[in-house]
Amino acid sequence: MDVRVVDHPLAKARLSTLRDARTDNATFRAALRELTVMLIYEATRDAEVATAPLYTPVARTIGYRLANPPLLVPVLRAGLGMADAAQGLMPEAQMGFVGLARDEATHRPVPYMESLPESLRDRPVFVLDPMLATGGSMVHTIRLLTERGATHVTTVCVLAAPEGIDHLAGADLPVRVITASIDERLNDSAFIVPGLGDAGDRQFGAV
Ligand code: PRP
Repeated sequence: MDVRVVDHPLAKARLSTLRDARTDNATFRAALRELTVMLIYEATRDAEVATAPLYTPVARTIGYRLANPPLLVPVLRAGLGMADAAQGLMPEAQMGFVGLARDEATHRPVPYMESLPESLRDRPVFVLDPMLATGGSMVHTIRLLTERGATHVTTVCVLAAPEGIDHLAGADLPVRVITASIDERLNDSAFIVPGLGDAGDRQFGAV
């Protein structure tokens, strides 16, 4: 499985804001949006482009656009904070949604909604979720996508635990990972260490 860590100095600075326990909800959301731009920039580096002639005020030249914009799939709740930034870079991209909440006792994902196109054949998909912890939520989400025919899935996350990477790599799914950091480990509550806490709560407050 291809795993790419975006460790640009600007990404590190935003990630530090996200990690800092003193960061308030609004500042957290702003840093997440900015970091998402950097992650998507990297995730689309090898994207196929289509060309067409265009005219500048001075001369004829070649114009470029994404040949096959990905379907964006934020995983609710926390992935919502990445959705607008990702779609801002790719205004033509469509969006699907998956809602999951991790059971606090078992750490297993409990699905509560999905809204996805029926067929994902020949369509790249970017799954947006700040956290890859045990990997259970991501494996569940990508299975929903492959059941619909997806064969090129990119996980875009802020933080990954080694356990989550291993789980995903062992699930035999057509996925690659773009992340800003692979952290040390999971703790007994399956939280990423050092991590940033609960990305949903830090954006939207505990509910
Ligand atoms: C968090 C996070 C991921 C999931 C990661 O969501 O946003 O979706 O847990 O954990 P895993 O890799 O062990 O499955 P949570 O269930 O806390 O829901 P929320 O986004 O509504 O806060």
